[in-house]
Amino acid sequence: MGCAIGRRQFITQGTLLAAAAALAACGVAGSDFGTAPKFSSPTVLKLSDYPSLASVGGVAVLTLVNSPFAIVRTSSATFVTLSRICPHQGSVVTPVSGGFTCPNHGAQFNASGQWVGGQPTSGLHSYTTVYDATAGTLTVS
Ligand code: FES
Repeated sequence: MGCAIGRRQFITQGTLLAAAAALAACGVAGSDFGTAPKFSSPTVLKLSDYPSLASVGGVAVLTLVNSPFAIVRTSSATFVTLSRICPHQGSVVTPVSGGFTCPNHGAQFNASGQWVGGQPTSGLHSYTTVYDATAGTLTVS
């Protein structure tokens, strides 16, 4: 009884496992696994709590649903909310001039979260963001 495999077969299987692990580590063949969080209910934010969003192009970094986010003011009346979880392998991207960069493998994203260079991956996950100018609030969902 038991599993009896020869030395040659063992080495072959070991090599395949190592190759699969190496491919996963390099983000090859659809192995992207940075997972953006989901909201169970909309989150309402007071715009005045984020002074950096007072002007167009401003970026605020914050924590929502226990996860790192960024909000970008894209015009006087529009905002984009992005997960800062890198879609490649889950590192936290940081704001840079004109967008975001990932410190892990160098993926680069524009201010709207679209991938623009470095490590190939998908864009940052974005969320519906509704601006109520009268109330001075952003509702993110
Ligand atoms: S985790 Fe690899 S580029 Fe971000």
